[in-house]
Amino acid sequence: MAKMKTGFPKDFLWGGATAANQIEGAYNEDGKGLSTADMVRFIPKSERNPGEHALDVTKKQINKILAGNVEEARFPKREGIDFYHHYKEDIALFAEMGFKTFRLSIAWSRIFPNGDDATPNEAGLAFYDQVFDECLKYGIEPLVTLSHYETPLHLTLKYNGWSDRRVIEFFTNYAETVFRRYKDKVKYWLTFNEINIIAISPYTGGGVLVEDAKNRLELCYQAAHHQFVASALATKLAHEIIPDAKVGCMLARMTTYPATNNPDDILKAQHLNQMNLFFTDVQARGEYPSYMDRYFTENNISIQKESGDDEILKEHTVDFISFSYYMSLSTSANPTGKQTGGNFMGGVKNEYLETSDWGWQIDPKGLRYTLNDFYSRYELPLFIVENGLGAYDKVTADGKIHDDYRIDYLRKHIEQMKEAIKDGVDLIGYTSWGPIDLISASTSEMSKRYGFIYVDKDDDGKGTLKRSKKRFLRLV
Ligand code: BG6
Repeated sequence: MAKMKTGFPKDFLWGGATAANQIEGAYNEDGKGLSTADMVRFIPKSERNPGEHALDVTKKQINKILAGNVEEARFPKREGIDFYHHYKEDIALFAEMGFKTFRLSIAWSRIFPNGDDATPNEAGLAFYDQVFDECLKYGIEPLVTLSHYETPLHLTLKYNGWSDRRVIEFFTNYAETVFRRYKDKVKYWLTFNEINIIAISPYTGGGVLVEDAKNRLELCYQAAHHQFVASALATKLAHEIIPDAKVGCMLARMTTYPATNNPDDILKAQHLNQMNLFFTDVQARGEYPSYMDRYFTENNISIQKESGDDEILKEHTVDFISFSYYMSLSTSANPTGKQTGGNFMGGVKNEYLETSDWGWQIDPKGLRYTLNDFYSRYELPLFIVENGLGAYDKVTADGKIHDDYRIDYLRKHIEQMKEAIKDGVDLIGYTSWGPIDLISASTSEMSKRYGFIYVDKDDDGKGTLKRSKKRFLRLV
């Protein structure tokens, strides 16, 4: 019997995580094409309809935007925090914090402006060469997501995004291009960020417009099937081109508790957890789980597979599982009481938990539970690639930001990660979300800050973009 592990392994990958569309800016520079993220408008809290996701853009809205008919609209993801021109300064600050890894995504539309182009855009490839070189200069291992909430817009307009099978080939061509180009610089790859989001917000997860769909769910799960096949083919290519590559899937883990011990609540929680873990089940076990048969039948969903798809999924499963974890959710078969918000999905209020400024429940012990649950299900290495606290920060008269609440959130989650390691979980890394303040994915706000580094920019897009250290960074 092996001895109990007592702490983090020496080669543990500590770092921070970002996405191109939330940091880079320069949305139309050096040959970049438009992406779905460039169409996402900032919507102030007062204008948001509860339940309506700010990210769900329609064809009508896109046409209006492209025709220039949108008054006073601002598109914060087009500007990000201008990482495109500040990456050296930003990576130097990450190095100062002792980062061992930096998670970033490649903007597909920087490499293939339309997505289906015959040749890549050299200026886009050169940009990421410089970014990776800068990381490696400090001994920071890049962890790269191929697709993080930005499909080239042309693929949405011409093919309706991932609902069309032809997009698999465009994606594998893009993946092969970047694997060949960066094979000596990047070893850790993730295929699709939070792949399960395609079933919740199909525009965000896969550039799919659903307003004309006869069966919205069927369209979403068909698009998910295409992403599964594309992810498996990309995994195959990575292993062929980069012999020591490690490829992971990425899930927005929505760990859901039953609100009470009423068996109806327990069954509902089990169902929601299955709907969430379906995605990692396919990518880690290489086949569709039997519990989906009933769901598909009852929702009139028929997935069109081509011959060979099942074999591709089976033969090219992932090397590790990565996931985001911000909060836990609770569910009830008869929801009556208070509701809470959450990352793409809310739930009923858990009276034992506090919530963030955005109503997300804070549950460090839920992270330990989640890690154990994942590991006993798959027995594959785990990587937490997003976790953090979105909060309002105040700059005090002395020019400082005293974000003790964020330090507290992170400390408590890290303590529980250590407990999970003691429980026997093979945890290989942790990248906290938004080590530098960035544009929020769900709301496009700048005021929802996660960073260790403050960026002087507000929700109206005003500010100097000056970077300054918050409390955590001043402690290091
Ligand atoms: C995850 C996404 O869903 O949560 C990130 O992968 C996102 O892109 C993060 O930023 C936090 O969500 P938000 O809406 O607070 O930015």
